[in-house]
Amino acid sequence: MSDKTTTPKTGFSHEKIETNNFLMIVLILLVIAIGGLVEIVPLFFQKSTTEAVKGVEPLKSLQLVGRDIYLREGCYNCHSQMIRPFRAETLRYGHYSVAGEFVYDHPFQWGSKRTGPDLHRVGGKYSDEWHRIHLNNPRDVVPESNMPGYAWLDKSMVDGATTATHMTALRRVGVPYTDAQIAAAPADVDGRTELDALVAYLQSLGLALK
Ligand code: HEC
Repeated sequence: MSDKTTTPKTGFSHEKIETNNFLMIVLILLVIAIGGLVEIVPLFFQKSTTEAVKGVEPLKSLQLVGRDIYLREGCYNCHSQMIRPFRAETLRYGHYSVAGEFVYDHPFQWGSKRTGPDLHRVGGKYSDEWHRIHLNNPRDVVPESNMPGYAWLDKSMVDGATTATHMTALRRVGVPYTDAQIAAAPADVDGRTELDALVAYLQSLGLALK
């Protein structure tokens, strides 16, 4: 047995990188940047991630207002909208989520915490009336529920003044709202409660790939 401890002299020694913090940092950043670009950039050009799945439509004005209430009330803190492609998930929630279902979502509501169930395909699962009772006081329909009640939604009217502007802004980032839809928006949501809007939003979720 020989006790050679020196590394063979080649043109470039790894020791140079490992003993030079600056060089190490630069090379790590370079590797991560290349790895990231190779993974992320193609997604901008793939149809499956940039085009809507058949049946996915931009939210109607009242549903859009409901989505804002969903954000305002922080529903995403307890609910995800992202069904993962595992058997346990698809058995419980239905078809796993695909990127083409979220192209009109700005920002998407995938969430990262599930205190409650995933809501991506909750549309059509219950009646409007069930949602109204549940949102008012979840314990009335699910006795063991620890979801908070949102009793004020039924008493607050939707403020339609900003709905058209919101739709115009969404159109700028690629949501294909027509002039007619935008013009009709304030009248469409007029006189509706926040509860109407939120229920309309929930009922619209995930219908394309049922
Ligand atoms: C503190 C966590 C928490 C928050 C915040 C929360 N939820 Fe829930 N949610 C739950 C839990 C837990 C359940 C399961 C028990 C039940 O059905 O009430 C649930 C159930 C649901 C269900 C029924 C889903 C199904 O498939 O049965 C809907 C719909 C729902 N929540 C909507 C909402 C909306 C809309 C908001 C925001 C206004 C919201 N939740 C906020 C915890 C939460």
